[in-house]
Amino acid sequence: MLMPTPPALVDDIETVLPAWDADVDEVLVCRQVRDETHDVKTFVFAPRTPAQFRFRPGQFLTLDLPVPGGTIQRCYTISASAARPFRASITVKRVPGGIASNWLHDNLKPGMEISATGPMGDFTPDLASPRKWLLLSAGSGITPLMSMARTSTDLGEDRDMIFVHAARSPADIIFRQELDMMARQQDGMRLALICENLSAEKSWPGLTGRLSPVMLQLIAPDLDERDIYCCGPAPFMEAVRTMLGELGFDMERYHQESFDFGAEEEQPPFEEIEAMEAVEHDTFRVELARSGQVLECAPDMTILNAARAAGLRLPSSCARGLCGSCKSHMISGTVDMKHGGGIRQREIDQGQVLLCCSKPTSDVVIDR
Ligand SMILES: Cc1cc2nc3c(=O)[nH]c(=O)nc-3n(C[C@H](O)[C@H](O)[C@H](O)COP(=O)(O)OP(=O)(O)OC[C@H]3O[C@@H](n4cnc5c(N)ncnc54)[C@H](O)[C@@H]3O)c2cc1C
Ligand code: FES
Repeated sequence: MLMPTPPALVDDIETVLPAWDADVDEVLVCRQVRDETHDVKTFVFAPRTPAQFRFRPGQFLTLDLPVPGGTIQRCYTISASAARPFRASITVKRVPGGIASNWLHDNLKPGMEISATGPMGDFTPDLASPRKWLLLSAGSGITPLMSMARTSTDLGEDRDMIFVHAARSPADIIFRQELDMMARQQDGMRLALICENLSAEKSWPGLTGRLSPVMLQLIAPDLDERDIYCCGPAPFMEAVRTMLGELGFDMERYHQESFDFGAEEEQPPFEEIEAMEAVEHDTFRVELARSGQVLECAPDMTILNAARAAGLRLPSSCARGLCGSCKSHMISGTVDMKHGGGIRQREIDQGQVLLCCSKPTSDVVIDR
């Protein structure tokens, strides 16, 4: 389906467009859908109101997805170059049984609109620093590193960068052709592809097996001179950290992004939550209006943690005020909310709160 560029945008390319601001217009229009591999698609978006995306490579958007049964929030890293501000793309792997990824793959088509917030996140390199990079990725964890590599390429940096990508098989390598081309065109970039099995691939220029300390030293003999950015499944990142520990790498220069907030979420252990509860001070009454449940919440405790301590599971993901999954309407009361960008000012003005980073300052009633 042809998606012509709106005339207003053609005019606006020649003028300086404002930055896309989800508080002004949260709607993004899907302009293109591309197959990357058999189970990975890229979705390209433009703002509905002419605007430019301003983000740092490695940052993510939180999308509101209208799946059957209600809207859910999921975070997706912007895989596009930060130096190309008119489009932002996300690259999504279909997760077996996953609600959002399957909905995106099966339903999102050019011309459709979705709401988003962001860009957010601090997994971003210091572009002003001339340091060498080692980008280590596995599976869909390639997206933030691809944005870093694309941005560096577009800025004409010719930075010394080694891009390592681990995949199950050659057919699972995301962005393979583009990575090949970038490495061929840039003196400073080297590409190392590692596949667990070669399936039908007859001639394979990469490595076979799983990333090991020996492989890492062969790929990057000057490891100690590099800043490392790593993203992939939890076991991959754990293996990388172990290898780097064995090789004596300075972990101050190691940066990683997890796609599973739950795995790294810094929640107080349950006993601590109980201890906090037991501390002798006034508590506030938190009523969940729809379920009729009532919690006691200490003033130094978030409502999400109070609910957890009471054995209730409320929707949540990052627990850091970033992703928006715990967004709820506050029917009455006041809270002290210290969020990380996962809620729009307009939503706050309408009485919405993020339960993971809101501590009550009075009795509250939440629409949950
Ligand atoms: C900062 C950040 C950036 C991200 N960037 C990307 C990106 O660039 N690309 C990308 O592809 N992903 C990215 N993700 C991951 C993404 O947000 C989603 O988590 C991912 O797409 C899976 O969502 P889903 O709704 O499809 O799966 P979910 O429905 O959340 O399910 C996840 C898993 O749980 C299993 N599951 C679900 N329900 C049940 C149940 N009842 N019982 C047992 N198992 C169950 C599913 O089978 C699946 O394996 C990112 C995540 C974060 C936090
Ligand atoms: S759980 Fe992510 S914003 Fe609250």
